[in-house]
Amino acid sequence: MPHPVLTALGLGSVESGTYLGNGEWSQATDAGVLEPVNPTTGEVLGRVYATNAADYETILERAQATFRTWRTTPAPRRGEAIRLCAEALRRHKDALGSLVALEMGKSKPEGDGEVQEMIDIGEFAVGLSRQLYGLTMHSERPGHRMYEQWHPLGVIGVISAFNFPVAVWSWNAFIAAVCGDITIWKPSPKTPLSAIAAMKICNEALRAGGFPDIFFLFNDAGTELAQRLVDDKRIPLISFTGSTRVGRLVGERVARRMGRSLLELGGNNAIIVDPSADLKLAIPAIVFGAVGTAGQRCTTTRRLFVHESIFDEVLGKLVAAYKQVEQKIGDPTDPANLMGPLNSREAVQAYLDAIEQAKAAGGKVETGGAAIDRPGFFVLPTIITGLKNSDQIVQHETFAPILYVMPYSTLDEAIEMQNAVPQGLSSAIFTQNLKAAEQFLSAAGSDCGIANVNIGTSGAEIGGAFGGEKETGGGRESGSDAWKAYMRRQTNTINYSDALPLAQGIKFDL
Ligand code: UN1
Repeated sequence: MPHPVLTALGLGSVESGTYLGNGEWSQATDAGVLEPVNPTTGEVLGRVYATNAADYETILERAQATFRTWRTTPAPRRGEAIRLCAEALRRHKDALGSLVALEMGKSKPEGDGEVQEMIDIGEFAVGLSRQLYGLTMHSERPGHRMYEQWHPLGVIGVISAFNFPVAVWSWNAFIAAVCGDITIWKPSPKTPLSAIAAMKICNEALRAGGFPDIFFLFNDAGTELAQRLVDDKRIPLISFTGSTRVGRLVGERVARRMGRSLLELGGNNAIIVDPSADLKLAIPAIVFGAVGTAGQRCTTTRRLFVHESIFDEVLGKLVAAYKQVEQKIGDPTDPANLMGPLNSREAVQAYLDAIEQAKAAGGKVETGGAAIDRPGFFVLPTIITGLKNSDQIVQHETFAPILYVMPYSTLDEAIEMQNAVPQGLSSAIFTQNLKAAEQFLSAAGSDCGIANVNIGTSGAEIGGAFGGEKETGGGRESGSDAWKAYMRRQTNTINYSDALPLAQGIKFDL
């Protein structure tokens, strides 16, 4: 019997993981089976047939064929296709949000929130489809005009992670679609059912609207096909979300074939709480940032720098708030719960190992610090003090709800510590002091791709460009002008005179 959350989306407990286009899901069963686990119970949630090499080729060929017509479809018409997807997602928000909660383990409101992000980026993409602007330039030559235009890039590959099993695909795929590209998606092997459901919703909307297949899906039992995608010269852009370790390999391999990569890798995000901070804002922001999604966002708050004059007060309030959260840990599909399980048994082990390592380095567990004795992969949200920012475990992104709290005495010192990690994704300061806020946002302030004042590190809106510096990979996706990554720029110079002057004043008289 499939889980009712699957049935509500028309999914069974056995699914094909390969969308071939033409409304066709592959019948192949020879490439292995993925068995996503329900992190709340530890039991297998469903079976997904992985993709074989022949189907991979079919997808590539069909995607390339569709690109040839899609690239000349007017961009606002491409926007209409995405409008239909966003509309369909709106209709299925509750059901898909529940599946994300069930399969990934995030809370139901956060699962719904993830689908809302898909709807939002879809609507953003619709508007964008009329705004893919290039610049015009003044030529140095008389009777000449210069301008630039943005053309579709081609068939792009999206490799996404388990923690945002559907939204990250849509940030890439919806923007890419209005840019005239076709997207091939390789989701996380931990969350294939959410990916299949999202694909079905969007593909049915596209087909009903008379649009071609602009989204394809394959699932990989191992890493062979994902590696083939990364090395595939027919794919001009690989957008990868995941660990820094794997992202580095992806970036190197794509660069070797002169492709482009868009990398969204690890974060080690910090909040600074200065002496003027409004703690009514700061405490809930820190708790949501550190505990939300059970600490499994790339934007999760992992380090907290509190001014020494308010250190004990802030720590006391946080521990009290964590005790309240502990009362609301449980089945993520129950909207009353604030925190669900970690996604896998290995994640629980990584959490336990990190706590051991922190203790060995002199860390003190202020609250939490243990797995919860019940089925599934539940752990207690944890606060650790007594470590230095330079300690190895603090420098490392452990994908779990562990917050390292450290005191500071001057803002310069706090900003220096906040920047002194390999990653550079998100950062925040809580202050009512204008000078402190501006210093934090200045060129000598936070070195992260995201820097906030009086809001936390996670939960970025889709309207901005999302991504980070250093080992976070440098990629930007979602809003602002992140669309440019999905297009190729062409500079055009047109001579409407009767002469042929050369640039730079060069004479070349024959
Ligand atoms: C991620 O964890 O990979 O800013 C993305 C946020 C979300 C996206 C997180 N909008 O927390």
